[in-house]
Amino acid sequence: MGVRVIAIDGPAGSGKSTLAQAVADRLGLECLDTGAMYRAVAFAVLRAGGDPSDDDFAAAVARTIDVNVDAGQVLVDGVDATVEIRGPSVDRAVSLVAANPEVRAELVVRQREWVRRRGGGVVEGRDIGTVVFPDAEVKVHLVADPAVRAQRRVDQSGTPPPEGAGGGRTYDEAVESVAEDIARRDRIDSTRQASPLLKAPGAVVIDTTELTFDETVEQVMRLV
Ligand code: DC
Repeated sequence: MGVRVIAIDGPAGSGKSTLAQAVADRLGLECLDTGAMYRAVAFAVLRAGGDPSDDDFAAAVARTIDVNVDAGQVLVDGVDATVEIRGPSVDRAVSLVAANPEVRAELVVRQREWVRRRGGGVVEGRDIGTVVFPDAEVKVHLVADPAVRAQRRVDQSGTPPPEGAGGGRTYDEAVESVAEDIARRDRIDSTRQASPLLKAPGAVVIDTTELTFDETVEQVMRLV
């Protein structure tokens, strides 16, 4: 009752996280990055020396770990994994873990609990409007051109300097490699059996390819 949920779904690099945070700030709500929870499970599986495609193992890890994703920090069983969950090994493993129905079932329970305790929130992911909160007050489905998403990811991580100095990779090469990784994850995330990324009934599609960040925030605030 009176639980206010704003659901934001979309593919990697569509700008969900920054948007969700800005909307949450405007509304005085907290924001939950559910992708960080799937990443935390992948991190814990790798850390335990497990194989991310071993479904029983990953499910057991999901049920037993302590994950805390508040305040921009990700703690996995008390270990600060904020940086590592965005690293290349977790990037490679996370789609496998997120395709596991038992892992999903466990995390969905935790996500609903997180929102219930706070009386609401801005929740971002892939299945928020379809599965986790089908009755959310506002549902947003973000899309953006894949090349633009790759560029934003590289700009955000700041990994290779745009000048191409150091590391031997030019900016364009970095964008290309990120674009390949995004395309691979999009394919897995939208074709998997368990809760694929789909537009939820009632979701409003916002294409951010040609929008500035502020324009995107304004569009969502109008829906609210
Ligand atoms: O948004 P992200 O890139 O941090 O998400 C990491 C992975 O988790 C990605 O492969 C999609 C998956 N994911 C999911 O399946 N369901 C969610 N609600 C959130 C993320």
